Amino acid sequence: MRASHLLCLATLSIVACDGPGPSFSKATVDATALGTELPRGFLLGAATAAHQIEGGETNDWSVWETGSYPDGTPHIRNRDTSQIANGSWTRWPQDVEALTTLGANAYRFSLEWSRLEPTEGAWDAAAAANYRSQLLALKARGITPVLTIHHYTFPLWVEAHGGWQWDGISAALGAFAGRVASAYGDLVDVYCTINEPNVGAFEAYLWGHYPPGKKDAVQAGQVYVTMLHAHVAMTTALRALDTIDADGDGHATQVGMALHMALFEPATASALDAMMAGFDDDVFNEMIPRAVATGRARVYLPGVVDIDEAVPGLQGTFDYLGINYYRRFMVRFDLSQDALATQYALAGRPVSDLGYEIYPEGLYRTLVREARWGWPIYILENGVCDAVGDTFPGALRSHLYAVVLALRAHLDVRGFFVWSLADNFEWADGYFPKCGLFKLDTSDPGLVRQPRQVVPVFQQVAREAGLLP
Ligand code: BGC
Repeated sequence: MRASHLLCLATLSIVACDGPGPSFSKATVDATALGTELPRGFLLGAATAAHQIEGGETNDWSVWETGSYPDGTPHIRNRDTSQIANGSWTRWPQDVEALTTLGANAYRFSLEWSRLEPTEGAWDAAAAANYRSQLLALKARGITPVLTIHHYTFPLWVEAHGGWQWDGISAALGAFAGRVASAYGDLVDVYCTINEPNVGAFEAYLWGHYPPGKKDAVQAGQVYVTMLHAHVAMTTALRALDTIDADGDGHATQVGMALHMALFEPATASALDAMMAGFDDDVFNEMIPRAVATGRARVYLPGVVDIDEAVPGLQGTFDYLGINYYRRFMVRFDLSQDALATQYALAGRPVSDLGYEIYPEGLYRTLVREARWGWPIYILENGVCDAVGDTFPGALRSHLYAVVLALRAHLDVRGFFVWSLADNFEWADGYFPKCGLFKLDTSDPGLVRQPRQVVPVFQQVAREAGLLP
């Protein structure tokens, strides 16, 4: 048995041994004044990504959106494109207004590289000024920015070089991060270098759902490692070029990544289900934190990929661990699948419009487990796509309750960001999923952000935390 399999089983025993856990009953959650338990300085906000909200992008995704798979199926559900999105490139004041309505004291958003450097080496001063105006408006409202540098998209010139397979990509991302730090370091302290390297590498290079649409496990494994090198280059540049402590808390830069983490549980007591759940957990959840903690990239997909190499400079690059948590998967060993497993939502449990099981206990368990690395934690995304709007309010409360439980256990959780501020372009799912705190209809010429039922729930927590009168 390989070392990584042993690790999977060790990992699994943590999952299997942690007992029934605390109660998340509605009565218990409702009886808790959640906001009163958030510590001073806790970041409570919403998250977005440039390509999903700005509209009018020209990048690898805007090209991908117009294409189809060989069988004629469009790359994007309903052939939607991101061209309208939330119109946030010009309408960002409406976003700032929405954040103010919520009582948010933080906003996670990303910069679109293709706007700032539309052709190689040419920095667009007007685009840079637009982001700066937005950052200044956030500052004026007392909203702390958390800036994501890479959230899935590449400028066309980067794509032409080969995207993640270009041997200059780490240096190019490092240079871009450096320009960002020089341009906005006086207004920004918290950076997320790469959003969800695990999702990005697998969707784009293994499952073929994101550009460049490849299905090659070996390439996916290599991209995973390249992303770690790029993260090092970006971190080095950010730390070197942003030496200004924007909010006076003693830290000029706090760098991390947003890692998508899910709970994987064996569907039955069978050892094969347990092995597959452990394996999925290890590949998806643990590879990157382990690599950052040890300084070695270990990517292992049985029989296909077996990479074990040092990544110079990687160790110590996390000032915090960013977690995007959405759901639990039940895992059943299944020989008919390439991945040797079927993953599904447990029957009878509440689900989002995308069929994701709503399982706040999983967030608590994830926090308890991930705290062992010793990094402060920000939950950089959590939310529910819910067009009707009656599931999100309870789900928001119960996931915040998971945070409160973690805080009561003295875990260092420093922030919680709801995905998303308003309904937006949800990648391959187009506009079908409605994940916004605010409803937004792309056929509305004013693209008005209209509060959903969940907004008063957020506001109540913000009020209890002293963020709203
Ligand atoms: C991504 C977001 C995405 C969200 C909701 C996350 O995986 O970071 O860009 O829209 O999930 O599906």
